[in-house]
Amino acid sequence: MNLTPVINDKRIAVTMGPGGVGKTTIAALLGLQAAVCGRKTLVLTIDPAMRLAGALGLDRIPPGAHHTISIAELEAAGVPARVPLHIAMLDTGQSLTGVITREVPNSKQQKRILEHPFFKRLCNDLAGSREYAAMEELYNLHLKGEFDFVVVDTPPTTHSMDFLEAPDRILDVLNNDGYRWLMRPALLASKVGLRALDFSGGYVVRTLSKFTGLAFLKELASFIDMFSSLMEGFRQRAAAFKAILRSDVSSFILVTTVDPNQSQETLYLHRKLFSRDLTPAAVVANRVVPEPVALPEVPDWRQLLTHELVAGRGETEPAVTQLIAAMEIAQQTLADLARRDRAHLEQLKTSLLNRSSLEVIYLQPEDVHDIRGLEQMRRHVFGQS
Ligand SMILES: Nc1ncnc2c1ncn2[C@@H]1O[C@H](COP(=O)(O)OP(=O)(O)OP(=O)(O)O)[C@@H](O)[C@H]1O
Ligand SMILES: [Mg+2]
Repeated sequence: MNLTPVINDKRIAVTMGPGGVGKTTIAALLGLQAAVCGRKTLVLTIDPAMRLAGALGLDRIPPGAHHTISIAELEAAGVPARVPLHIAMLDTGQSLTGVITREVPNSKQQKRILEHPFFKRLCNDLAGSREYAAMEELYNLHLKGEFDFVVVDTPPTTHSMDFLEAPDRILDVLNNDGYRWLMRPALLASKVGLRALDFSGGYVVRTLSKFTGLAFLKELASFIDMFSSLMEGFRQRAAAFKAILRSDVSSFILVTTVDPNQSQETLYLHRKLFSRDLTPAAVVANRVVPEPVALPEVPDWRQLLTHELVAGRGETEPAVTQLIAAMEIAQQTLADLARRDRAHLEQLKTSLLNRSSLEVIYLQPEDVHDIRGLEQMRRHVFGQS
């Protein structure tokens, strides 16, 4: 099981993949196994859909809140946990506010930034700000070292890529003089007023303002002006975070089903990770239909069962015949689905070109919606302890 070294040795694990394949469930599963192994673990969800609490049978966890599942609670659900399990939901506003309070020593300047309308827009999940906040949050958690292991549950593919690309995007912008060139007229405008923006802005500002509105641009300009002293810190943190993601403390778990459409999306993500020097620790094929248990090999089992149920239980013969037919259809259907999944699994394995190990997690009898269900899955995947 290639997930075991992830749990034993890594500091960060990021679950990624197409929508609905089981990323959140697997993130919670990794957290649970880590708690069984005695590692102090936080499962952090950056997905605004907030299914993490549901997977663990908890009430909704408000953004920004940390929740601890105690050893006693885990034991009550049959989990042989050695330490409690911590879970949290990212709050963009809280994380960004944290960055400012950490990075800006002067409280007056802090207040100016925190109360700036553009900062409020950022906190309200302006495109990309959630992923950026996730990066800052994870970086800070990593530096603080309070947890041995942090599992990050990401939203479906596009947004999880946004999360990985957040450091690059910041670096692109900050390393590139372009942003200064682009914003210079706007920066000037923020100092000398709207009138200046109108004529010193030139083509770029005129074009941008068509799309964003002059008021927005002016707001952005004054914000960037205020922010410029912090740019170097942003650049350094983005570069450091990128190095952490590439180092062997981090691991990426690609979750998929064997459905060809979802496999396709997973292979795309797989290539993307390699192209960014981020090696996936494992690809997990989830919800694979297992081979059904074979029906009895006793030759006359139909007659024996009929006799047992009619004579012993008072069932009617037609009812028992119907039951046996239903069992045989169910068995045949499951066998067909299992054969189909096996073929798809082989295709997926071939497409991975031996670049990543493929782990199989079978379809569980029920949806996973509490710790007990997750524990069953954990035993199936990792064994008793
Ligand atoms: N191995 C499994 N067997 C049975 N049900 C499963 C299994 N894995 C996950 N599920 C169920 O599949 C559903 C989707 O799982 P989950 O929410 O973890 O997916 P996700 O990839 O995080 O979705 P999203 O992209 O919406 O965030 C849930 O109802 C979950 O209980
Ligand atoms: Mg999810």
